[in-house]
This record gives sequence, C-alpha cells and structure tokens, in this order.
Amino acid sequence: MYLRKLSLINFKNLEQESLEFDTGINCFVGENGTCKTNIVDAIYYLSMCKSALGMSDGQCIRHGESFFVVEGSYTTAEQRREQISCTFQRGSQKVMKRNGKAYERLSEHVGLIPVVIVSPADSVLITDAAEERRRYLNAFISQLDSDYLAAMIRYNEVLATRNRYLKMNSEEYMLQIYDQQLSAVAGKIHEARRRMVERLLPVVCDYYKALSGDREQVSLAYRSELNERSMLEVLAEARGRDLANGFTTCGLHRDDIVLTIGGMPLRKYGSQGQQKSFIIALKLAQYHIIHEQCGEAPILLLDDLFDKLDEGRVGELLRLVSGEEFGQIFITDCNRERMERLLQRSGCAHRIFEVTYGKVLGGEATPTAEQHTQEKEEEQ
Ligand SMILES: Nc1ncnc2c1ncn2[C@@H]1O[C@H](COP(=O)(O)OP(=O)(O)O)[C@@H](O)[C@H]1O
Ligand SMILES: [Mg+2]
Repeated sequence: MYLRKLSLINFKNLEQESLEFDTGINCFVGENGTCKTNIVDAIYYLSMCKSALGMSDGQCIRHGESFFVVEGSYTTAEQRREQISCTFQRGSQKVMKRNGKAYERLSEHVGLIPVVIVSPADSVLITDAAEERRRYLNAFISQLDSDYLAAMIRYNEVLATRNRYLKMNSEEYMLQIYDQQLSAVAGKIHEARRRMVERLLPVVCDYYKALSGDREQVSLAYRSELNERSMLEVLAEARGRDLANGFTTCGLHRDDIVLTIGGMPLRKYGSQGQQKSFIIALKLAQYHIIHEQCGEAPILLLDDLFDKLDEGRVGELLRLVSGEEFGQIFITDCNRERMERLLQRSGCAHRIFEVTYGKVLGGEATPTAEQHTQEKEEEQ
C-alpha cells in the first residue's frame, strides 16, 4: 500500500499542507517540537480513524480552529486507487470517506490501509499496566479481522451496562442476561487473542535475535482468566465479588501479555537497549503477520527512530526494511546529516522533507527516488 499524496488542513499545528511521497522511504527531518510526529499521526489517522498518541479528535484540531481535514491518495498492491478522507468538525461526528462515500461505521474502514507504527510512546507497552498491551493487541487484530473489532465493541458496551447495573441492582435474571451477552462474544475474542500471541512468538524471537545480536531468549505469553475456563464459569465464580464491589471483577478486560527475557520479566530485568529492541522486534513481527495475512505491505511509520537505537542499529534496521518484504516507510529524525548518511549507505530510494514549526519546507527526491517512482508509475 502506498500513500502517494497527503493533504492536511488544521491538523494539530499544521495549517495547510499538500505533500507527495516516494514509494520507498520518506523522511521528515527538523528540530524537536516542529511537526514531525504530527504528520506521522495524520497518516496513522487515515488508517485507524484515530490518533496513535491517544489524543481525542478535538485535541487534534489546530488551536483556534473548529475543524480538521486529513486526506490521502493511495495505490494498493493491485494498483487500485483509494481516496480516504477524515473530517472532524467540533461538536459533530467524525466522518471517514472512502472514494467520496462516507462509512456508516468507522470499524468498516479499519484494515483497508494497513499500518504499523514504531514510536517513543511504545515504551508504555513494557512499563505500563496491562491495559496498554490489550489496547495494542486490539488495534493489531482489528486491522486483520473486522468481526473481532465488532466483538470488542459489543463486549465493552455490555460490560459498561453490566457495571452500571451492578452499582445499583442485583437482580439475578438481569445479571444472567448480561453474562450471556458477554459470553456470546468472549469466546471469539479470547480465541483470536490466543492465536495471535502464538503466531507472534516465533517471529518476535527471530527479529529480536537479528536486531540485538543478543543471546538472551525473549518470550511473550497470553495471560487470561479464560485460558482454563469459559466466560460463563468465570463470571459465575466471581458473582459474589462483583456484587460486593459494584463492577465486573473478572473477564477478558483483565487479559495481559506477559513479556519476558531469559525467563524473567522484561520490565524489571531487561536493559533499556533490550526493551527497545524488543519493541521493534514486536512491531516488525506485527508487520510481517499483517503483510502475510492481507497480502498488502503495510505502511511503516518509524517515529523518532533514534529514540530507540544507536546509529549502527538503525543502519541494520534500514537494511532490513529495505528488503523485498517491506513497502513504503516514513521516518522522522531531528538530525538531517545523520539520516542522509544512513540512507545513502542503505541504497534505498528515498525523499527527505525538511520541516519547521507547523510547516513542511519541501521534499527533495534523491535521483534513486525519482527513478524508483518513475518505474512504479510505468508499471501502472
Ligand atoms: N491541536 C493543536 N493545535 C496547535 N498545535 C498543536 C496541536 N497539537 C499539537 N500541537 C503542537 O505541535 C507541536 C509539534 O508537534 P510534534 O509533531 O510532536 O513535534 P516533533 O517534530 O518533535 O515530532 C507541539 O509544539 C504542539 O504544541
Ligand atoms: Mg516527535
């Protein structure tokens, strides 16, 4: 999947931009606090219908304005064109359109433009509570399986209703209805999560080894109260506790992925370098799985890459992602010389965009990049 053109109006600190990209690597270079992450987030928005940084739609409107528009023109692996736009007006519903036609549900769009992001914000996957890892897994599986996303939305709705009910009432027959409703979608969610973690494991290990040169063995395991029992059994057992607490104390909403290195918790025993390599390995494994399953190379967003790796490792990563399997890539960095040096060495087609506060100063294509784009166009 290639993003050929991106247009922005009032998105975060970007007033108005229209950018054309290379099908290989696109770099945004400029000082910190300019707009590099904002551009990457806009690209993420067009795929996932929301910010990668957990910002609300309203927070993404440029200060002092009342709406934003993000629009992207894509070409798929089969050379089909897709025009996607996202418009949000304060006080209204967000509207996502595909080729001019508005979606009824945003969940219908997720997965059409596969994307994988690596960003400094990923550290929460290791340091923070289980909720972050669930959020990650949900977004990941949702890109591949729209039924999963629908099941998750349903589960969360019923859970919220059940929790409201538990705060005020305790009628057995009502609780039984909620339990049945939760149980009706829980099996699918549990099975999808279990399968995905199982699928991730060997790929993460391979990438970790390749990236870190580490002899330590990393691992990830799916922890769920539903691993041994059904949702109905779990709820029945916790009924007394739920009534006493006034909320649903057990279930899928407490799942976690346990990350380890050398058999010990990654958060405690992994060095900073090991933790960062793990995250990149996880994201590349995610990329691999999405690519394999949907037959479309996802757009890879590498925000602030040097936050995670030293120059030698970034060089290795660039060699890795310039291989056959990978498609279009967006990278941000605050050091232009360093980025140019690495890209030249990697031999990849690329385009560098210099940015200042809220403004992109223009992209210069390298000769290889122009050639590359031309060849791609001729293929069409
Ligand atoms: N809704 C908004 N309106 C105006 N400016 C915003 C908005 N959201 C974020 N910004 C500003 O965007 C600036 C740069 O963002 P960012 O893209 O993260 O920088 P960087 O180049 O370091 O990645 C910040 O100074 C932030 O205040
Ligand atoms: Mg940034």
